[in-house]
Order: sequence, then structure tokens, then C-alpha cells
Amino acid sequence: MTAGDLVIVANRLPIELADEVDGCRRWRRAPGGLVSALESALPDRKAVWIGWAGTPSDVASDTSSTGNPPVPAGTTDGAYALIEVPLTRADVEHFYDGFSNSALWPLYHDAIATPVYHRIDFDAYRRVNRAFAAAAAEHALPGATVWVHDYQLQLVPAMLREMRPDLRIGFFLHIPFPAADLFMQLPWRRELITGLVGADLVGFQTSGGVNNFLECARRLLAWPIHDDRIRLPGTNNDRRSCVVGSFGISVDWPRIDRIARSEATVARAAQVRAELGNPHRILLGVDRLDYTKGIDVRLRAYTELLREGRLDPAQTVLIQVATPSRESVDEYQRIRDDVELIVSRTNGDLGQIGAPAIHYVRQTQPLTELVALYRAADVMLVTPLRDGMNLVSKEYVASRSDDDGALVLSEFTGAARELAAAWLVNPHDTDGMKDAIVAAATAGPVERKRRMRALRSRVRNHDVEHWTREFLAALTSITRDHGAE
Ligand code: F6P
Repeated sequence: MTAGDLVIVANRLPIELADEVDGCRRWRRAPGGLVSALESALPDRKAVWIGWAGTPSDVASDTSSTGNPPVPAGTTDGAYALIEVPLTRADVEHFYDGFSNSALWPLYHDAIATPVYHRIDFDAYRRVNRAFAAAAAEHALPGATVWVHDYQLQLVPAMLREMRPDLRIGFFLHIPFPAADLFMQLPWRRELITGLVGADLVGFQTSGGVNNFLECARRLLAWPIHDDRIRLPGTNNDRRSCVVGSFGISVDWPRIDRIARSEATVARAAQVRAELGNPHRILLGVDRLDYTKGIDVRLRAYTELLREGRLDPAQTVLIQVATPSRESVDEYQRIRDDVELIVSRTNGDLGQIGAPAIHYVRQTQPLTELVALYRAADVMLVTPLRDGMNLVSKEYVASRSDDDGALVLSEFTGAARELAAAWLVNPHDTDGMKDAIVAAATAGPVERKRRMRALRSRVRNHDVEHWTREFLAALTSITRDHGAE
């Protein structure tokens, strides 16, 4: 049986199905930074990754309808064993689309969209979390470290602790943790908090997340809390603490830097500029098509700037890449409609034949193409209404080995805490955002370079490998201390 001394538990496996040139669908490594981080940080460990393959099992098992190849047992280079937790169509509807993405996702993003609480969805959430916990319990070696990721799996730490008390358990939340007054809306609030404190270490993107979580723990649990430590009940020998901390995630700097400096990328960036007619300024947005990302507010601000003549439509181009996401959830269909209405109106009113004001690409792009776009963009627009971190802003910075470019960044991203040298904006303040876009688009080369160097120094020294190392070192030292308590 496959077992690891490091077990990663995440909703998705680090592989994805891709259509190859020969017309076949094959599994390949997913592009995410988390995959590279874990691979680079843990070369000597026997690791297992537990997750969902992204297709409902009752569809996948009927290969005649999907033609999908089975999930491989491990990565091609042998870095990881892969263990699939199958989800049925009902699980996808109630656990993934339902509780995870129609209740938790909007609630944790300040209820920008109205969260929907259905008991049938939470039942599925509990059931699927138990399946993930059971898989982790089965595939962890004695005393192994298990690292559970994100909002879809918040019950797993306590469930796993009960099944396997010998394990060292860490949890990291990739999205914001909301203010206590919002969190208290949740009918299952106590169960979720209790689920999380099953971990030895619970990590958040920012200190704001830590404080919100501790406030909820204070209100919902009757257990003593000192600084960053929640003391759980138990007899002297098995008393345990849960420690809470902030660890801002980042990008795979060496990989992006290598792509950014390659001849192919530099040539592709020049080609993009040329194909757009070598405009004076290229503005760029790259986001999952999600209502938290502020794509609509950014496009409205840009359109107003064109209408008012503060940006010249003949000299300025905006590229908006929007990656399709969670398409069966109503709010995602709504934001798509809103964005596409703005794009078509702006292009209809202000574009010319062969020269639209907004180039809208609703497709998933490979990292190499994104890095070329980052290199081509004079101004990067990152304007979420709320975002746990926002890795696009850090990817842009990591791509600019020429020390050029300008980043306009929402204050409501975790990244804004680290990237103060960006043009910071409040996306709810359209006039303020317009001023910042103009300031970034017209800044001189000296100011652009000064800001970009400061941004690059921060991201280079706090890349995703640093994040992995810090989290796992903190987890190890906490559990060592527990042993001594
Ligand atoms: O930001 C949270 C997150 O779950 C990421 O980990 C993930 O890349 C993204 O949202 C998209 O999530 P999914 O397509 O799995 O719903």
C-alpha cells in the first residue's frame, strides 16, 4: 500500500487532463505554484498527494461518455504518489458547487455575493471531508506529517486527529478568514472551528485572518487562548495546543524568472505588442472569472477614462484574460454576463474595426503565455474586492526582470500587505482607481524602476519555497514542543 511521511491533502490533485497534439486526453502536471513548491522543498521525502481528479466518478467510470484515462498512481518523475478521492455528481453539486463555493466562498470573501446555506450541502461537505480524512489516515506512515489545504477541507484536521492521533497535522487556508460577525452567520460555525483546531498549526495568509479566527475561537470555544495558542481540553498526557499563524503564500520565483528571461518569452512579448499595433500603453488583467476579482469595476473605470479622454483609445489597449471557473454556480454565470456586457459595450462605443478597446480572452492560458503577456504589459491591473493573497500580482513582479512595468493593486488583497510599492487602490472608489491607473500609466521610467525594484526584492526573498519551508518548520517545532509539554 502507498504511504508517505508527508501527506498533502487538497481538494484537487496536482494533475490535470489536457488535450494533446495527437488528439488524446492525457493527465499532465497542473501548473500551480503549490506543486513546484512542494517538489522543490521536499526532495528527500516520501510524499503522497490526496485529492480529487476534477471529474465526477460516476461519469468518469463510464469511459464511453468521457474517454478520460484513469488517474495515474504517481507523477511521471516519481516525486509523488497520487491518491484519488472520487466525488460523485451529487458530491460535486452539494460539496463543491454547494457548500464550498456557494456558502463558504462568498462568506469568506466578505459576503460580496450572498452566501447560501443548505443543510443538504453541509451534509455532503461533512461526508466528503470524512472521505478525505479516511484517505489521509490510510496513506500516512506512523508519525507522518499531514498538510491539509483550504476551505473545502476544514473538518479534516479534527476527523483525522480522531482516526490517527499519532500524526502531525497542519492546515493552511488559502482564502481570507472573515470577521467574526460574518462567520457567526454559519449554522455550522462551531463544527467548522472545532474541525480546524484539530490541527497542530493553522496557517492564514495574513495577520488579519489570524485575528479573525482567534476572535471566533474565543466566542465559540470555551477553551483558554494565550496569544497564538488555543489550549484544548484533555488529560495531562494527551493535552494539546493548536497554534495559529500567518504565512503569506507566494510564487515559484526561479521558474517564472527562467521563463521571463528566455528568448522565446521576450520574442512573444514583442510579437504581442506588434500584433496590437505597438500602442503607447498596454494594460493587462489576468483573473479567474470570479466576482471577487473586481474585473467589472476595473473595466468600468477603464471605459470612463477612455470616454473622458484621460486615456487615448488610439494609443491604449487593455487585454483582459479571464479563466473560466465554477461555471455551474449562478453567481459565476452572472459575473460572466456582466463582464461580457461591459466588454461589448465599450468595444461597440469606443473601438475601431481591427482595434477593439478591450481584448477579452476567456480561456485558460499556459504560464509561458501569461509570462509573455506580463512582459508586454506596461500596467498590470489587479483590483479584487477581496482576495486571500493574489498570486497574479506576484507573478507579474517575478516576470519583470527588466525592472519595468507598473502594478495597480487592490488594498483588499493579502498581497497589498507585502507589495506597498505598487499603486494601491480601493476598488470601491472608482475615481480613486481611475487616478491610480492614470498615474501608473504615465509614471516616468525612474519611478517605475524604483517601485519595481522594491517589489521584486520582496517577492524574490519571499517566494513559495520560503513559504513551504517556514510553514513546515513551524509545524515541526510546535509538535516538538508539544512532546515536551
Ligand atoms: O483560491 C482558492 C482556490 O481554491 C485555489 O486553490 C484554486 O486554484 C482556485 O481557488 C480555483 O479553485 P477550483 O477551480 O478548484 O474551484
